[in-house]
Amino acid sequence: MPATILVGLQWGDEGKGRVADWLASSSEIVARYAGGDNAGHTVYVAGKMFKLHMIPSGILHDRVTCVLGGGMVVNPVNLVREIDGLAAAGVEINPARLAISTKAHIITPAHIALDRANELARGKAAIGTTLRGIGPAYLDKTGRQGIRAETMRDPEGFGDALIAQIERANAKLTAQGLDTLDAQRETLPYIDAARRLAPFLQDTARLVNRRLDEGARVLCEGAQGTMLDIDHGDYPFVTSSNPTAGGALIGLGFGARHVDRVVGVAKAFSTRVGAGPFPTELDDEIGARLRGTGEHFWDEFGTTTGRPRRTGWLDLVILRYACMINGVTEIVLTKLDVLSGLETLRIGTRYRIGTEWTVYPTEIQDTIEPDYVDLPGWTGEIGGIRRWADLPGNARRYVDFIQEALSIPIATVSVGPERHQLVHR
Ligand code: IMP
Repeated sequence: MPATILVGLQWGDEGKGRVADWLASSSEIVARYAGGDNAGHTVYVAGKMFKLHMIPSGILHDRVTCVLGGGMVVNPVNLVREIDGLAAAGVEINPARLAISTKAHIITPAHIALDRANELARGKAAIGTTLRGIGPAYLDKTGRQGIRAETMRDPEGFGDALIAQIERANAKLTAQGLDTLDAQRETLPYIDAARRLAPFLQDTARLVNRRLDEGARVLCEGAQGTMLDIDHGDYPFVTSSNPTAGGALIGLGFGARHVDRVVGVAKAFSTRVGAGPFPTELDDEIGARLRGTGEHFWDEFGTTTGRPRRTGWLDLVILRYACMINGVTEIVLTKLDVLSGLETLRIGTRYRIGTEWTVYPTEIQDTIEPDYVDLPGWTGEIGGIRRWADLPGNARRYVDFIQEALSIPIATVSVGPERHQLVHR
């Protein structure tokens, strides 16, 4: 059986985790292919709330093997923490359930310190990264001086490589007038983590290809979103990897012929955390309403950093672009319930750049002026609805408008944070 790729169509935080949870129930492998612990999703196990940053939520399904692919950057100490947190809640993780690619790159204390130093140096032009060391780790990878996960098989050699890397980072930190790291002390927890993680290391490209050939269904779980892609997002306000569908083939190492489904996840409005252009952003009380107060885990505050997310109307220019870049075959629209009670809903349909109108941006700038269509809202609680026909007429019209504009089926909408709060058409 073939592979499904799941991607975010906006700036991340589209609700991919819960869609992955749904698709995982019919998958044998759930694999992350890019990024690291900059991502995050909240899951419930035995009534206890968890934040997973690297391990896909597919781990909660007994039959599923989770893969951390070679395109990822892995923080070993934080990964051990996730494994231990799951074990404490009764989810036993063993090498049959979790495979870490030998080719994934390691995030080290040097990368985390340099991420912070780089952001400081950018001053007002800071990207607003998650400060997890993602950019510096990918920089060492492409600069061919990174540490691959396979090095953890030799904890001492791993320690030496870490110390050498921290010393290189210290020279840069000193030049910037910042505190340096104690290389010996910083390395110790990483050596412990390496000992714990070594049994999980595998050639995951072989694993994934073997399972595909045997007929298993593989779910490739994208992190972040299309507009944060290093190549296709709004550079430089992007992450340092390829969260788009193409990244799955590179990050896991299988061929395009295996892919038969690309599920794009879009939130029914827009959010962004971190700096960068956001044409349909709302700075008013509607924006605050979309964000929520932060008291619920589904409110718009970053899972990894806790930062309030910027909020705005849905933007069709971005969605059209994201569907093109990823070759989306179906869309899941999330958080429709959050829009209940708003009298009028606006959808950005095109941008004015200079005197021209465009429906496909070549680049998104701060000065872009969107054109909107206004649709009537609906009232009442829709979280309990499970059938398309039972949704308020204006809610159906809102979804239909988006579907027609994109010419891609919106097969599923979510109407609440719980696993079962999905409406399939
Ligand atoms: P980095 O990935 O930590 O380098 O951050 C680069 C940009 O991507 C920043 O704007 C972050 O806020 C954003 N970002 C990274 N990961 C996520 C995510 O999982 N959700 C939403 N935004 C993210």
